[in-house]
Amino acid sequence: MPKKIIEINNLDYSYPDGTKALSGINLDVLEGESIGIIGPNGAGKTSLLLHLNGILDGKGSVKVCGLQVEDKNLPFIRGKVGLVFQDPDSQLFMPTVFDDVAFGPMNMDMPKNKVLSAVEKALGEVDMLKAKEKIAHHLSFGEKKRVSIATVLSMNPEILALDEPTSNLDPKHRKNLIEFIKKAKLTKIIATHDLDLVLKVCSRVVILDKGNLVAQGASCDILSNKTLLEAHELELPLSLPENL
Ligand SMILES: Nc1ncnc2c1ncn2[C@@H]1O[C@H](COP(=O)(O)OP(=O)(O)OP(=O)(O)O)[C@@H](O)[C@H]1O
Ligand SMILES: [Mg+2]
Repeated sequence: MPKKIIEINNLDYSYPDGTKALSGINLDVLEGESIGIIGPNGAGKTSLLLHLNGILDGKGSVKVCGLQVEDKNLPFIRGKVGLVFQDPDSQLFMPTVFDDVAFGPMNMDMPKNKVLSAVEKALGEVDMLKAKEKIAHHLSFGEKKRVSIATVLSMNPEILALDEPTSNLDPKHRKNLIEFIKKAKLTKIIATHDLDLVLKVCSRVVILDKGNLVAQGASCDILSNKTLLEAHELELPLSLPENL
């Protein structure tokens, strides 16, 4: 039986202005599992992912690799959880693409020659190697998104937490990314509106709505349940036979 790599118990979070973003969330993720987090705008998907490496700190308990997400464990946990933000401008802050992708491995004290190969491998995975010397904020949005993904791949994380990984990607790079995510032997937690992505790569799916976890189950069951999806402002994935 695979072990629990993420354990979330009774998690509540409100932003400083009082907006309630998460209410009583309970969710376990098994090692190697691929789980989709879906739900309408404002459901709490991003807020939930931001708890996995301690950017947000709500009430209740979040454990990663058996350790409580709290200040003293953050250096370890941030080496395990590769979190790709919804907005790539929040992820990229160094002078060049290379520097951004090298930042994580350098901070983990990886030897210089290993940093170089980790950066090249990660940029190759997202087909951005040719942009290595470019200034990140001169890239298109979709290119920045791909570089953001490389910034966490270079750290060789155990858990990939992706917030809208396919947004703004052209069809070829969306397809490549889906193939890559499918192949990657990691634990994956993916917040997205791209239900076809979830159908292709996630075995389990969770629906959030207004900060509550309202349903969870096998992707094939949840994503073919039109009534359930429509009750939460979602639609059947386009690739389902019913839609063809
Ligand atoms: N910095 C913030 N300050 C106050 N409220 C916020 C902040 N960020 C998000 N919220 C609110 O928290 C709730 C959950 O937002 P969150 O970004 O987690 O939703 P989401 O499911 O990721 O939505 P989307 O599909 O649009 O990405 C929303 O009501 C949102 O307005
Ligand atoms: Mg979001």
